[in-house]
Amino acid sequence: MTKQTQQVLWSTRFAFILAAIGSAIGLGNVWKFPYITGENGGGAFILLYLACIALIGLPVLVAEITLGRRARQNPVSAMQFLAQEEGVTSGWRLLGWMGTFAGVLILSFYSVVAGWTIAYVIEAVSGSFTGLTGETSGALFGDLIGSWEEGLLWHTFFMLLVLFVVARGVRHGLERLVVILMPLLFGMLLVLAVYAAFAGDFLKGLGYMFNADFQALFQKCEGEACEFTAEPLLVAMGHAFFTLSLGMGAMMVYGSYLPKQASIMNSAIVIALADTLVALLAGIAIFPLVFANGLQLGAGPGLVFVTLPIAFGSMPAGLLFGAIFFVLLLFAAWTSAISISEPMIAWLTGKRGLSRVSASLLVIGVAWFVGIGSVLSFNLWSGETYQLFGKTFFDLKDYLASNILLPLGGLMIAIFIGWAAHRRLSEEELALQNPAVFGLWRWLVRYVAPLGIILVFLNAIGIF
Ligand code: PHE
Repeated sequence: MTKQTQQVLWSTRFAFILAAIGSAIGLGNVWKFPYITGENGGGAFILLYLACIALIGLPVLVAEITLGRRARQNPVSAMQFLAQEEGVTSGWRLLGWMGTFAGVLILSFYSVVAGWTIAYVIEAVSGSFTGLTGETSGALFGDLIGSWEEGLLWHTFFMLLVLFVVARGVRHGLERLVVILMPLLFGMLLVLAVYAAFAGDFLKGLGYMFNADFQALFQKCEGEACEFTAEPLLVAMGHAFFTLSLGMGAMMVYGSYLPKQASIMNSAIVIALADTLVALLAGIAIFPLVFANGLQLGAGPGLVFVTLPIAFGSMPAGLLFGAIFFVLLLFAAWTSAISISEPMIAWLTGKRGLSRVSASLLVIGVAWFVGIGSVLSFNLWSGETYQLFGKTFFDLKDYLASNILLPLGGLMIAIFIGWAAHRRLSEEELALQNPAVFGLWRWLVRYVAPLGIILVFLNAIGIF
């Protein structure tokens, strides 16, 4: 029996879509999207991000799932197998390697933030949100991240949660949970958005999100002196990859479990739409509260944790809502973290012959250890002596993985499917009835996505 037929598949296309949505929707949408939007001036940044999703993210998402399903193996072996099939150099497996490395990096900071959501479930239940103001809410969050003991505790706890699932195999029970909990998370965000419409400065919040001021976006000012910066472009593109779980093999592995007859194109569109909707909704819930409570737009990674508890602290049944919300966010982070560790675990079990349990222990163990540095970035290592390029260890890992490694992985995926492989590969896998849709996708993945990524990279290093 070949490796391909041994794979356990998702039960239906719906199950795949659920799992992929579970991977895509996570802290990226609710935690990262609002805070980087706040740091990059709002509307213009959001437009850039949406353009990156549509022109780069979606075509690469289709490509990554396609490669996964074609090869039905872990990313490293998949690329080796596909390169062989297409008669090109097996050096393409570097893509798989890079992805697994990026995965460990991402998991090692993702888990720390996910740990904060656990801490906030407890804060909600114990009534700490009651009567919070902008100032006291900031202090509550500051106390949490300021304590490395607490950070380490929750980081460890979250990693154990991930270990618990991945050691038993990804598909057990995941689909059933996602189908209930994702719509609930969406509903909670809707409640929060409606609340923000009444209690927040709704117009200002929406104006901030949907008024595009491109001149301000590309200006970095210190005091009076302003200079041009291309950084927001890189951040917007990097986030498009991060939020769609692209460029590191997560979608490739999930695609490898996808039944043959399921439509990849339709699935990808649903995934990207759901993901974008949740991010925008999170923004709509958060920004009106930021303005109404005099909070800092550029508050950084704490933005969600400082803003939303104020709302919970003053709305009816807010403690209950608060607890439910952070449980749901924790769950969303959990399903994402599982997918982040899956490529490496699939490689260790598929190629290296490790048992599922040993592979999981190894991957989670390493990410946990590296993650200690992420915990310390907010307390013992927050000082300048511990920073590189003005960034803490936490920020540095996020920057390297999201803004560089993931787009680089995406670039390789686009070039492989668009140029190195025969047109036949994608024609067969996508099996699209409408030639215009195929033509459009192929044009995007051959020209627009790779050129876009390269131009953004060149721009960021100041060459273009
Ligand atoms: N997409 C996830 C989120 O938005 C994060 C993620 C990144 C998951 C990379 C898998 C791979 O939270």
